[in-house]
Amino acid sequence: MGKESLYRQAEAEIYSVTDGENNVIANMASVSCLLNFAFEDFYWVGFYLVDPEKENELVVGPYQGTLGCLRIAYGRGVCGEAALSGKTQIVDDVHAFAGHIACDSKTNSEIVVPVFNKAGALIAVFDVDSTKISTFDQVDQLWLEKILNTVFTK
Ligand code: SME
Repeated sequence: MGKESLYRQAEAEIYSVTDGENNVIANMASVSCLLNFAFEDFYWVGFYLVDPEKENELVVGPYQGTLGCLRIAYGRGVCGEAALSGKTQIVDDVHAFAGHIACDSKTNSEIVVPVFNKAGALIAVFDVDSTKISTFDQVDQLWLEKILNTVFTK
């Protein structure tokens, strides 16, 4: 099945599970699980939350995969860059990305999408890592932004 079809199927599953649920952590856990099992290339899938107790710092949230770093300062690594800029980051080769945080040496490419709430405030970043080079493109960006926007701004 192509990427578009896999996203369409995962999207339907995600909406059916999260519909009517307003708990952010429950929704993040469900999104991580369903996307992780939908795509073979997804190796680490999860959220880094904006820490309400520490300014400009992300703390690990619900995820599927190997052990993730616990904290990431804004501006550090791909996640920190997404948090600082508020813009999706696609990295074809993490080894060529200055300041990349290597939580797991198996990661070779990644996409990180900022997550906003209904009020437009940044609440987290969503990080997907792959063991292959150049796994992610604009198709992933469009689908992930759409799904995250639908689930977390309702
Ligand atoms: N790859 C991320 C760090 C988090 S993990 O890989 C789980 C980054 O450089 O932002």
